[in-house]
Amino acid sequence: MKRRLLIVDDDREATRQLANQLAGSQLIEICGEAASVDEAWAKLQQSRPDLVLLGGVKETERGVLCQQFRLAFPHLAFIAACSPNELVWEPFFRNLGIWVIAKPVQSGQVEALAMMAQSPALDTRFPRQPQQPFSQEQQGGMPHSKDQDQMTEPHPAIHAQPKAGKKRLITVYGPKGGVGKTFISRELAIFFSMQKKEGRPLKVLAVDFNLDLGTFATALNLPRTPNLFTWVQELDSQLHALAQKRGIDPYSVRPEEWQELASLLPLFPQHIEKYVIGHTESGLDVLTSPRDIRQSFEIRDYHLYLILETLKQSSYDVILIDTAPDTTDATIQALFFAEQVVMVGTPVVDSIENIQRLLKLLREAEYPEERIQVCMNRLQRKEMFTLEEIRAYFQLHPSKKIFSIPDDGEVKKSINTGIPVMMQTGRSAAREAIETLGKALFPVDEETKKLAAKGKQSEKPSLLRWLWG
Ligand SMILES: Nc1ncnc2c1ncn2[C@@H]1O[C@H](COP(=O)(O)OP(=O)(O)OP(=O)(O)O)[C@@H](O)[C@H]1O
Ligand SMILES: [Mg+2]
Repeated sequence: MKRRLLIVDDDREATRQLANQLAGSQLIEICGEAASVDEAWAKLQQSRPDLVLLGGVKETERGVLCQQFRLAFPHLAFIAACSPNELVWEPFFRNLGIWVIAKPVQSGQVEALAMMAQSPALDTRFPRQPQQPFSQEQQGGMPHSKDQDQMTEPHPAIHAQPKAGKKRLITVYGPKGGVGKTFISRELAIFFSMQKKEGRPLKVLAVDFNLDLGTFATALNLPRTPNLFTWVQELDSQLHALAQKRGIDPYSVRPEEWQELASLLPLFPQHIEKYVIGHTESGLDVLTSPRDIRQSFEIRDYHLYLILETLKQSSYDVILIDTAPDTTDATIQALFFAEQVVMVGTPVVDSIENIQRLLKLLREAEYPEERIQVCMNRLQRKEMFTLEEIRAYFQLHPSKKIFSIPDDGEVKKSINTGIPVMMQTGRSAAREAIETLGKALFPVDEETKKLAAKGKQSEKPSLLRWLWG
């Protein structure tokens, strides 16, 4: 039976060309064409496709569109057709369980994908990635990485597991070091841990994605075991077992094959508690970065993908990810998995310039800008640049608020003592600003949870005690 394909693209000429190519196909029947979101919804209802090809629609972002369509029609398979400069975002689409192919689309590519999506054994066999027809070089495009040559297929978990309750995944990022990302993540995490939603205390997890040099645990006086690497080791043993079950020698598996195996691994959100440390005073859970820098070298993209995907299905209400000031795959994955991003900077030209560069990159990738909240930290009474000037420089939408956090002498002390300003009884200028930011990120009840152990707050910091653990 032919697979029914809906083409969603505002480039009518591209749609016409593909339709011509597929006219005589034995495998695919085009059941609809749409050039706008409204038209796509109507066609989805009328023509009941099996497969949707997402070219591009200016009014929306494809990842978001796919998620909306999938909610209404869970059986649908998706293909994103990307131009050469969009292919850098292939991991983002992969994370959403969307196949990716390069433009101009060849009918053979779509046919091969339609057959793969149809296979009922998708989750029970080692998938073969048909690499040849999808190489951009063959289509006269720019060469790109091996990773991008491979098509990707939806993670079985995306189809197999029900979505956990409404949660917020918030990534705190800033493309310059030392601007206050860890401080702000810590304070937001504690703020949310102290809040209630519909009368119930929020369940909050903070994740340290500074894989090599993370200090989130230190900022809360917490030990560093278990940590992300404990989880990665566990994932590796599950992957080894899976390879063996499929008759593959784990010691001969190539890196890209691990990636394919990872896409078949079942996820266990109920096991996350084995890898987190509890912050007793607030009830916050923390997934810390590895103890040893060398361990971070062993963490691969597919580990992080599995971890993020599992976190998404967990029962946490709010998950905060603290990141490093870089553009490594770990950071990019954390940005694309997030429902909201707090973009942190300070009112200094170098920090402002880097945020502008990052915003430009994200805009080019059609990243939904409404997810980004810009936050200027360490504002002093008199600054050279006003928030209005900064907003104009970033070309933010006039309705977009820039959040600000004042420079506050208490912050340094609170980092050294491991006691968040959110848990201190005295006055702090930064505290109110963090609360404003927190409430904008995730609506909470007005009532605040009582803290568990106030007594701990009076502990004096000691460098020796910290050094010797
Ligand atoms: N609002 C503030 N007022 C005063 N000092 C601050 C404020 N925010 C951050 N700091 C100071 O800046 C230092 C660096 O902050 P933090 O470690 O959070 O930055 P970061 O962006 O996470 O750095 P990295 O890029 O290295 O991860 C803190 O130790 C603290 O002393
Ligand atoms: Mg930091």
